[in-house]
Amino acid sequence: MGNQILKAPDGPPSDVERIKADSNYLHGTLKEVMLDPISAGIPDDDNRLMKHHGSYLQDDRDLRNERQKQKLEPAYQFMLRVRAPGGVVTPEQWLVLDELAEKNANGTIKLTTRQSFQMHGILKWNMKETIQEIDKSLLTTLAACGDVNRNVMCNPNPDQSEIHAEVYEWAKYLSDYLLPRTRAYHEIWLDEEKVAGTPEIDEEPMYGALYLPRKFKIGIAVPPSNDIDVFSQDLGLIAIVENGKLIGFNVAIGGGMGMSHGDKATYPQIARVIGFCTPEKVVELAEKTITIQRDYGNRSVRKNARFKYTVDRLGIETVKAELENRLGWSLEDAKPYHFDHNGDRYGWVKGVGGKWHYTLFVQNGRVADFSEYKLKTGLHEIAKVHSGDFRLTANQNLIIGNVSSQKKKKINELMEQYGLSDGKHHTALRRSSMACVALPTCGLAMAESERYLPVLMEKIEDIVNVNGLRDKEITIRMTGCPNGCARPALAEIAFVGKAVGRYNMYLGAAHDGSRLNKMYRENIGEEEILKELSVILSRYAKERQEGEHFGDFVISKGIVKATTDGTNFHE
Ligand code: HEM
Ligand code: SF4
Repeated sequence: MGNQILKAPDGPPSDVERIKADSNYLHGTLKEVMLDPISAGIPDDDNRLMKHHGSYLQDDRDLRNERQKQKLEPAYQFMLRVRAPGGVVTPEQWLVLDELAEKNANGTIKLTTRQSFQMHGILKWNMKETIQEIDKSLLTTLAACGDVNRNVMCNPNPDQSEIHAEVYEWAKYLSDYLLPRTRAYHEIWLDEEKVAGTPEIDEEPMYGALYLPRKFKIGIAVPPSNDIDVFSQDLGLIAIVENGKLIGFNVAIGGGMGMSHGDKATYPQIARVIGFCTPEKVVELAEKTITIQRDYGNRSVRKNARFKYTVDRLGIETVKAELENRLGWSLEDAKPYHFDHNGDRYGWVKGVGGKWHYTLFVQNGRVADFSEYKLKTGLHEIAKVHSGDFRLTANQNLIIGNVSSQKKKKINELMEQYGLSDGKHHTALRRSSMACVALPTCGLAMAESERYLPVLMEKIEDIVNVNGLRDKEITIRMTGCPNGCARPALAEIAFVGKAVGRYNMYLGAAHDGSRLNKMYRENIGEEEILKELSVILSRYAKERQEGEHFGDFVISKGIVKATTDGTNFHE
């Protein structure tokens, strides 16, 4: 460390810091305002706290203008996010969520890019019941959003079952260990009485009363699949397997996707590998990493508060030294590893234990019944007979996992009956696509995403087909704003919403998720998007080298410059 004195940036604390400080460990006045019958919404301060309980107040933006004209308050409703470490749930839990979505939400479930479930359109009056049912099913919404460690992601890797099972246990352990300790959640939602003699204030031994400056994300990848986008995480762990045994994790720090349009002080960044540690040390490592962010993160300017900015401000070597100092031991040198891709592999595979796993394409993670395609009902019927598990992938898809040979036939029949094919009729491009929710629920959306990408995709598929690229996997992602919830900066082709019908277009991320993309065109509409893609995809069809991925091709042809680090993303 030498004589360098580490410090957090100066400046008055942001609003959210004040709200957290005044909240008495996330209680605020949530209990009271949720009972207030006058409004279907809650005050802004409580909404900020609400995030730590796994929910946001939203309004239906399709109805906003009409309701304003009628002098009505916005059509308030809540989004609720359910954590499941590594995205693994039982069929019974699936049925609970399915039924709650029907009863208390808008009848659909969104499988998110961080292996969580989201429900939309829950009215204030139904929130408590919904959370209680979720709790009874042994799932939780606590810390699904907010300035804490989020759901720990983990590669579902069905064809390496033993390693996966071990890695999953670490993900689960980390996820639980890093939960906030406040009793606020239990008191507000689960009617837990204050036990006589318990102290008036709760304690947060790791987080402290102010929690973290921003959210914190951890994910564990098992090479050769980087499906969880390990470099997008604040703390990314890469499982190292030798002779069929998990020997530990390479440790990568300081990744993150969000940025603001037009503000170069904000940028997506990839996590950088700083060393290796054995499995037994990983919990301590995560805890100490989090405390560095707790102590030195920016609590004044929220858009510069993620760990990536702390790491870049202090320097990666300084952060590594501080981490080793707090741990009292040094990281070993990173071990060699190799990633092939950051997408999913569809269809049936047999795992080592003789169990079968089926990866199902779910467009943009939306589980719903569509007119010709009864996805939600089909999965409901499968959950009723399934005795294995369901695993959410980080690409918004679903694995029907641990199916015995006997059950496989029945599940195949149900998939047939409900038309839940593996998406073979889709192009590889569509199967490599993701879109965040955006309109109508997300209050931050500047443009459509989930509702629009499938429409745009039809037209891009025409281009792909004409050029004989039907089976070429190219990652393509869209978000309604630059916050980056569908990890657009790590897609070979990305569209980031700028205004209604207008997007910034990015190209050139690596197919294995190890390089960010670069802006190619700013603020363009559909016509220009299709024109650009026609030219570039036809060149790709004709001029690419054997095995060359699209993201590498656009760089080798000088169509965009390579982004070698988040700090040169805007150059
Ligand atoms: C300032 C930064 C961000 C803010 C304020 C923000 C806010 C939101 C909001 C309001 C939603 C709910 C949308 C809805 O369901 O209607 C959402 C969804 C989500 N966000 Fe973010 N977000 C930010 C950045 C990110 C980043 C960088 C990631 C991860 C790379 C992320 C991951 C997610 C995920 C997984 C969802 C679920 C939606 C999906 O899978 O489509 N968020 N975010
Ligand atoms: S990227 Fe923006 S529009 Fe999309 S869900 Fe996240 S915050 Fe909303």
